Amino acid sequence: MVRLQKYLADAGVASRRASEKLIAEGRVSVNGDIIREMGVQVDEEYDVIAVDGEIVKNSVKKEYIMLNKPVGFITTVSDDKDRPTVMELVSDISARIYPVGRLDYDTEGLLLLTNDGDLTYRITHPKHDIAKTYVAEVTGDVSMDTINQLRRGVVIDGKKTSPAEVEVVGATQYGTKIEITIHEGRNRQVRKMFEALGCIVKRLKRTKEAGLNLGHLPLGKWRKLSESEVNMLKKIEGEKPGSRRKPASVGSKKPIKAQSRKTSRKTGR
Ligand code: URA
Repeated sequence: MVRLQKYLADAGVASRRASEKLIAEGRVSVNGDIIREMGVQVDEEYDVIAVDGEIVKNSVKKEYIMLNKPVGFITTVSDDKDRPTVMELVSDISARIYPVGRLDYDTEGLLLLTNDGDLTYRITHPKHDIAKTYVAEVTGDVSMDTINQLRRGVVIDGKKTSPAEVEVVGATQYGTKIEITIHEGRNRQVRKMFEALGCIVKRLKRTKEAGLNLGHLPLGKWRKLSESEVNMLKKIEGEKPGSRRKPASVGSKKPIKAQSRKTSRKTGR
């Protein structure tokens, strides 16, 4: 037995969070019954799960890809404003992969793409403190005081950032090149941290994430992760039993089990 949202994520339909949204929107059915509450358990062997009426099979091969994203591409599967998306750069992959987390339109560098919803969940969930390293090219000289403030944490959007590792790694035509490693994933975090201290970021590149290194992968190109890289990612601590927030719609501590195909569902859920 497995939770419905995990089944969908494992099948490569969407990340676990996005799968929860699909469920809440009433787009997922189990044995023909629409399920809207979280916590429903399904039997992978016998239950028939469908999204928008289409049956989802859970035997999809997992793909893990690293892309060196250029500036000017949006990190989504599709864009309603018709901007170029990162998916255009990996169009020769047949699996339905999607980006793991986000890199801004104007940021370049390491972006993971996969159809492994569990891994996406582990990498993007704030509780796992995944390290992400960026090289920022900023205007002017950067004082030791500024470096220390970045290390200790800076207030952005009304909340202090958690401690970061920060080093000056060189000089550029604009000013200073700084390597910064953060353990959060707040919106435009690195740019905002520098801006809060009066530095303008001219160029921002992610070079490392979750122990992976961009290395010499050319800009705009992608490669499959090696087996050892995938194994390393899989070692990121998974969800501990009972550690997850209890879904609001489920009153009892016991997970709800989806009814089998043979039993008729009394409620219209
Ligand atoms: N911080 C930013 O400012 N932008 C990114 O894309 C990632 C981190």
